[in-house]
Amino acid sequence: MQNRKNNDILIAFLKNQGFVFQGSEIYGGLANSWDYGPLGAEMKNKLKNLWWDFFIKKNIHNVGLDSSIILNPNVWKTSGHIDNFNDPLIDCKNCKSRYRADKIIEEAFPEINVGGWTIQQQEKFILEKKIACQQCKKVDYTPIRQFQLMFKSYQGVIQDDSSIVYLRPETAQGIFINFKNTQRSLRKKLPFGIGQIGKSFRNEITPGNFIFRTREFEQMELEFFYDRNDETDWFSYWLLQIEHFLSVELKINKKNFKRRVHNKEELSHYSNKTIDIEYNYFHGIGELWGIASRTDFDLSRHQEASKQDLSYLDPITNKKSIPYVIEPSVGLERLLFAILTDAYCEETLEDKSTRIVLKLTKKIAPYYLAIMPLQKQQNEKAFDLYINLNREFDCIFDDTGNIGKRYRREDAIGTPYCITYDFDSDEDNCVTVRDRDTMKQERIKINDLVQYLKDNYK
Ligand code: GAP
Repeated sequence: MQNRKNNDILIAFLKNQGFVFQGSEIYGGLANSWDYGPLGAEMKNKLKNLWWDFFIKKNIHNVGLDSSIILNPNVWKTSGHIDNFNDPLIDCKNCKSRYRADKIIEEAFPEINVGGWTIQQQEKFILEKKIACQQCKKVDYTPIRQFQLMFKSYQGVIQDDSSIVYLRPETAQGIFINFKNTQRSLRKKLPFGIGQIGKSFRNEITPGNFIFRTREFEQMELEFFYDRNDETDWFSYWLLQIEHFLSVELKINKKNFKRRVHNKEELSHYSNKTIDIEYNYFHGIGELWGIASRTDFDLSRHQEASKQDLSYLDPITNKKSIPYVIEPSVGLERLLFAILTDAYCEETLEDKSTRIVLKLTKKIAPYYLAIMPLQKQQNEKAFDLYINLNREFDCIFDDTGNIGKRYRREDAIGTPYCITYDFDSDEDNCVTVRDRDTMKQERIKINDLVQYLKDNYK
């Protein structure tokens, strides 16, 4: 299934089924913007809750935060984003197509990694190797320009240089500038982490591949602070936590993701070690989750620029130091895309018909149950059952079309169980419970249903 065609099938499927819609569609859309329909919104919320639960609530070290999107612009000066958060932009003079210079080199020469090359080196290489425009096949480019990736705006009524603000390109800086507040107010001792979930914005030159790279997206980031003399290998600890979360909590097939170590040249300006977990998307392998060692880079710089003491006082040794940081960071939409890619199956049944089934883990599926009357006569009873079960579980009521079609519809949106109220239910107080993956059906007593469904929610 690893080809472009299947990506197109998956994307069309997700639009049709109400997971993802084209952004601003009735006005002809807005390039690379996507809205999440009822099923997509449900999944995003569940995913955020699972992340929060696993990385914040259930982890004994960590606490949560919700910082602003618009920060004092000095934050971005200090963090290095104003000076370093640029992409090299190049235009084809002939057909006006626009590219990231580093990307066209890497696409033409996959064995090459451009990280660390100067603009001049990239320009020279493109011309020497005659890397042609992907649209018109000419080699006639403008010089490379550095393109600032942060979205700029103005705060207040006067729009001049003094009122410039930026939409955050990562949530991490909101955590660093609240390090001291959080540590003090919760009396946290090292090691501890601060995590948050929120929107980030990047004016990407080459957004695309559906929801993989967009200009507006949500991040789930953890900044884990530890003493630099602590001998625990916190980098490995968090790497294993991420892999456990992917394979055990989200049940993503281990074969579909792998680690990639950044070489020196491609490390971000703040990092001395980074590993990406890459996922095998239908459009190709791409970064899903990054884990970076940020050392004391951010806190030291903020301390210097803000003239505030951001050090940690060790209550035992009475020594002050700036903690080191490990940062696991993932994009919510990229994670959702990986989950959907992993779950999408087309199965050929015994009668040679095809069934599309989303094999989503139960905690992530938009609905846990679909409740259906076999025929209209059972509508009222089935609806009462739906009202009752909906208090405990995420349910949908479906009474449209024949039962076979309804099963297919629920398979396609990943509903783990279909519960049918039929002719005999009034007599034997039982319903038929059908399993999405095995398609096996079982008669279960209505009185035992809640316990049965709770036992199987894993
Ligand atoms: N605070 C570190 C940081 O932001 P990053 O590698 O630039 O590091 C972290 O981003 C994660 O955010 C990525 O692994 C990816 O999942 C997600 N991400 C980054 N840019 C994105 C974009 N334009 N669209 C969607 N997700 C993006």
